[in-house]
Amino acid sequence: MKLGKFTTKNQKETYDLGFRFADELKPGNVVALFGDLGAGKTEFIKGICAYFKVDELVNSPTFTIMNQYIGELDENEIPILHIDLYRIKKSSELKEIGFDEIIFSNDSIKLVEWADKAFGVLPPDTYSINISFKKNNENERIITID
Ligand SMILES: Nc1ncnc2c1ncn2[C@@H]1O[C@H](COP(=O)(O)OP(=O)(O)OP(=O)(O)O)[C@@H](O)[C@H]1O
Ligand SMILES: [Mg+2]
Repeated sequence: MKLGKFTTKNQKETYDLGFRFADELKPGNVVALFGDLGAGKTEFIKGICAYFKVDELVNSPTFTIMNQYIGELDENEIPILHIDLYRIKKSSELKEIGFDEIIFSNDSIKLVEWADKAFGVLPPDTYSINISFKKNNENERIITID
């Protein structure tokens, strides 16, 4: 899929965009998601997880910080880590959850909501997904994929 700027008109279109984007992803990749509360970060992630045939329930791990799912890629299992940094207040808290090691692990795909709280520890080749609301329409989103 080509990276760039997209507009989605509803939840399903954001999910589908995540699904189509997912064919870019390989073990070790990090996807950082930026956007306010209710922007659609989790919806995009649900699409990614569907591409990898995750059958667990995919939800914002807001209280647990991290969920792990088992996905499928070329008939192999691939761990998918869904991390939500919403509750992180300072970089020492990232250390406590072992974020630095997790984010550089080579065997899993890592999806990070509220990535602006990662305090600069994301690898340089991280994909970034920015979701913003469009004025005058509560269901439209502008999504840039870099
Ligand atoms: N174009 C759209 N794309 C995605 N979600 C949309 C869209 N239009 C409306 N919605 C609604 O916006 C909400 C997005 O919720 P979602 O949980 O994905 O947001 P989030 O960015 O993960 O928020 P949080 O920061 O709370 O985790 C859903 O209720 C969804 O139905
Ligand atoms: Mg979310």
